[in-house]
Amino acid sequence: MPARRRPARPRPSPARLTGCLLLLLGLPSLAVGAAPEPLAESLGTGIVRFHADAAARDAAAPSLSMVAVLPSPDAAPTVLPEFYRVAGRAAARIAIPEGTDLYGTGEVFGPLRRNGTRTVCWNHDAYAYGGDTPHLYQSHPWVLAVRPDGTAFGVLADTSWRTLIDLTSGILFVANGPRFPVVVVDRESPQAVLRGLAELCGTMDLPPLWSLGYHQCRYSYTPDDRVREIAREFRARDLPCDVVWLDIDYLDGNRSFTFDPVAFPDPARLDADLDALGFRTIAIIDPGIKLEEGYAVFDSGETVDAWVRTYDGAPYVGRVWPGDCVWPDFTNRRVRAWWGGLYADFLATGIDGVWNDMNEPAVFNVDSKTMPEDNVHRADEELGGTGPHARYHNAYGMLMARATREGMLAARPDRRPFVLTRANFLGGHRYAATWTGDNVASWRHLDASLAMVLNLGLSGQPFAGPDIGGFEGKGDGALYARWMGFGALLPFARGHTGKGNIDKEPWAFGPEVEATCRRALQGRMRLMPHLYTLMREAATTGLPAWRPLFFADPADPRLRDVDDAALIGDDLMVVVDTSPGAGDAVPALPAGDWREVTRHVFGDVADPDLPRLYLRDGAVLALAAPAAHTDAAAAPVTLLVNPDRQGRASCAVYRDGGEGFAYRDGEFGLSRITAVVRGPHVDLSCRALEGDWAALSGAGSVVLLAGDAEATVDASWPGSFDLQP
Ligand code: GLC
Repeated sequence: MPARRRPARPRPSPARLTGCLLLLLGLPSLAVGAAPEPLAESLGTGIVRFHADAAARDAAAPSLSMVAVLPSPDAAPTVLPEFYRVAGRAAARIAIPEGTDLYGTGEVFGPLRRNGTRTVCWNHDAYAYGGDTPHLYQSHPWVLAVRPDGTAFGVLADTSWRTLIDLTSGILFVANGPRFPVVVVDRESPQAVLRGLAELCGTMDLPPLWSLGYHQCRYSYTPDDRVREIAREFRARDLPCDVVWLDIDYLDGNRSFTFDPVAFPDPARLDADLDALGFRTIAIIDPGIKLEEGYAVFDSGETVDAWVRTYDGAPYVGRVWPGDCVWPDFTNRRVRAWWGGLYADFLATGIDGVWNDMNEPAVFNVDSKTMPEDNVHRADEELGGTGPHARYHNAYGMLMARATREGMLAARPDRRPFVLTRANFLGGHRYAATWTGDNVASWRHLDASLAMVLNLGLSGQPFAGPDIGGFEGKGDGALYARWMGFGALLPFARGHTGKGNIDKEPWAFGPEVEATCRRALQGRMRLMPHLYTLMREAATTGLPAWRPLFFADPADPRLRDVDDAALIGDDLMVVVDTSPGAGDAVPALPAGDWREVTRHVFGDVADPDLPRLYLRDGAVLALAAPAAHTDAAAAPVTLLVNPDRQGRASCAVYRDGGEGFAYRDGEFGLSRITAVVRGPHVDLSCRALEGDWAALSGAGSVVLLAGDAEATVDASWPGSFDLQP
């Protein structure tokens, strides 16, 4: 823990909450009033929740982000928010020490460092978004602040209402709703703050191993033979891939939970054919349910009174893909149970994972692009009870993903559900992975996609990626190759593109681009032991797999705004060239003896479209063979060893069955591999850290990166060998 510092007193009330800010929230400009000292309660080590006053505390609605937390009165605040009322709405401001850098704020387009930005939390269908789009698909009212000395604090505005996060002068939240609590996590490092966020909002569950393979999607592969053809091409061309996706054209007239009888007459047969090739299938399910008597999902929803209502009490009707639709009220336990129950038959066709889209919720035929804010949700009491859409809007997608996940678990209790959601809310990583929506095939979007994934990771969501290659617009082979180069290593790696767009499979741009994609995808497979270990770490601690470079040394100011390089875990650095042409620019590197391992991961051919990879001194990187898909992925076969000055290097490797929940009963192994190098002599030890499985053992090649030249030796581990005979 950092030494207790005096709370930074906020500067005088910002009596100028400018018309500009209020306009962003759609509020009239009115006077601002200061509030007395807030009430503080402890929620954990270094974690304090503040309420504006006792009345605000007593009136506070249940948190939609946080898991159950037990407050205790012994808070010792180090960072004090100042609460205001603005135009009848609530605001909270937190002063930051000079030189503090700000991150997080969820799914945001633009640079990694968020100082000077304004973001509005209001989930929004943001097709082909850009820098001036005020809100994207998800809302994370959370800011990570890193002080000049590398200590850090995080601030969570515990409100689901439309909220402005203004980082132009300190941290300011203005909610278009009632007063809200603010939770501050003040700890010794940004990593420790993220662990605190996970204590508050939970962690994701361990995903199935196959979901860490590469995914191929488009809007849409149809008919079913086209899906088979895509899968066969991947195998014939020796391009690793785990999953092929079904976008809305597999549906019968865009009706969720149906199959087009002509284009997809035999889904179970399709699934069997894909299984035989080692493919999983993920299918899209949208929340807008076609208003049509005789359509089973509509009829059964009617029976359970499932729909979100208007202020007047009638089911709300709006237009989306199927035409006139109604929307399930996922805030209600009864509705979530009904929705979850729809998955049993659907998954019986063999579908492996579910993609929940359009769940902001998106509505086509209204200017707001979503349902009216005075629509009524009959929410569970523990979520806050019946209330307006304005309160539940930002949580709609998250609660849909929750209902889907719970339904999948009920239908297949022995399998880890994989859900991808477009809309989400702070804490929603507990239910689903995510992607960054309808991006654009441009270098600007390629560049931004890296910072977007990093900021999502800094906001609690470790399982994210962009549409590799760009959803809107054609782009070209150069863009596609570069995007696949690093996109293939992101936590969620999926290529996707829009209807009517050119083909965007790895082979669509000719043999050279295909060769780059093969290297990139094989690199992902080689890195799978590392990636899986990191996703398990994310599932236990909340630390994301992809981390900003400044995590290597949070006190080093040179690293704070680097967003064309990142860390995959603590020890592997990835440097990405995000502009056209082949540049050699090397960003500010963290201190240490980082050794380049690019060719060990991607193969021997120098390819400027692939990122460069560096291994930290003191680290071992365990690589697998580049299998066609994760089921065929073997244990580590290569150990890259970069010893520190004491001649030591180590890493942790997590293994389990890759699927199911036996790991919860100890059926897994977390091992530490340690290499000790003394002159020509190398000792490799493997120690079991956690789990019932014996410590890792294996054989293959060991590459010693120390000294001027590398030495590669065939060896088995644990064991000892000499570099020279
Ligand atoms: C939305 C999604 C996109 C999908 C399309 C059709 O635009 O963001 O990924 O392909 O709908 O379902």
